[in-house]
Amino acid sequence: MSKEVVFSGIQPSGTIHIGNYLGAIKNWVALQDRYPCYYCVVDYHAITSPYEPKTFPHAVLDAVAANVAAGLDPARSTIFVQSQVPEHTELCWVLSAVTPVGELQRMTQYKDRARVRREVVNAGVLNYPILQAADILAYKGTLVPVGEDQEQHLELTREIARKFNAAYGPTFPEPEVLFTPSRRLMSLSDPKVKMSKSMPGSYLSLMADPPAIKEAVARAVTDTGPTPGGEMTPGVATLFQLLDVFAPAKTAERFRAAHRAGDLRYAELKASLAECLVEGLEPIRLRYRELIARPDTLRDMVRHGTARARPVACATLEEVREKIGILKT
Ligand code: TRP
Repeated sequence: MSKEVVFSGIQPSGTIHIGNYLGAIKNWVALQDRYPCYYCVVDYHAITSPYEPKTFPHAVLDAVAANVAAGLDPARSTIFVQSQVPEHTELCWVLSAVTPVGELQRMTQYKDRARVRREVVNAGVLNYPILQAADILAYKGTLVPVGEDQEQHLELTREIARKFNAAYGPTFPEPEVLFTPSRRLMSLSDPKVKMSKSMPGSYLSLMADPPAIKEAVARAVTDTGPTPGGEMTPGVATLFQLLDVFAPAKTAERFRAAHRAGDLRYAELKASLAECLVEGLEPIRLRYRELIARPDTLRDMVRHGTARARPVACATLEEVREKIGILKT
């Protein structure tokens, strides 16, 4: 049995698109076969950005439903919600006492958000990476599957772990980033930028129904047509990227050969890709429908996750309190 523990955090941020799926969730699903995994919907992180309190509980349940529909398995992995395990915020406070403010101020994500509205940037945005470190370290996580944008936060997590260990004795492993093997998916409407949920037309929702899938694929940007031996333009490359995941290898190969020969008709490629996507995404969409229609089942699922996660976090916190000299009565 390996000593690795996988931990990753999921923002409850609404639409999950196929880029999120290929860039992150698919990898999380695969890791479940190899390691004990913790997947956490990070609602206390989310409140550092503007959000709607009235619909927030639903957004959190929706994130659970979407990720379970996409293949996170509550029977094998610990799938839970951050706020339900208060030891995360408690550990965050303890870790803040070994975290240099200067390091927090160096974080690109903080700098980006502080630049936009310096007067109103809240301390939660600054302290965000400490809570992220607490998430991981509460379970002594060793492998953190995230995108490149999180590398800096993970570097800081390692430093926080080192600082704590140096001050109070060996306690936490230094977690490693596990980058997703797949390349990131570009926008369908503008292949120069990453697929993003903030631009309609840019993304294909993981829960899209067949007509929506067909429309999104039909509207995807390509070029005026391939020339024999010519290079593949970025928009066309995105379609092939999807084909590689969702179509049988033979189909992808046939289209690739046609592209090389310069006689590929994009309409044909798109029709075939749309069909494969409809088929490939159907189980996810149906399972999502089923889950979201039963909020009580979802709540049970969250409680089940809490029951798995909390004893582990509690044990870590007990060890931490003892090491840092907190009164026990
Ligand atoms: N900051 C991460 C993001 O924006 C989310 C996150 C919170 C996370 N806690 C985490 C990721 C712990 C990995 C591990 O995507």
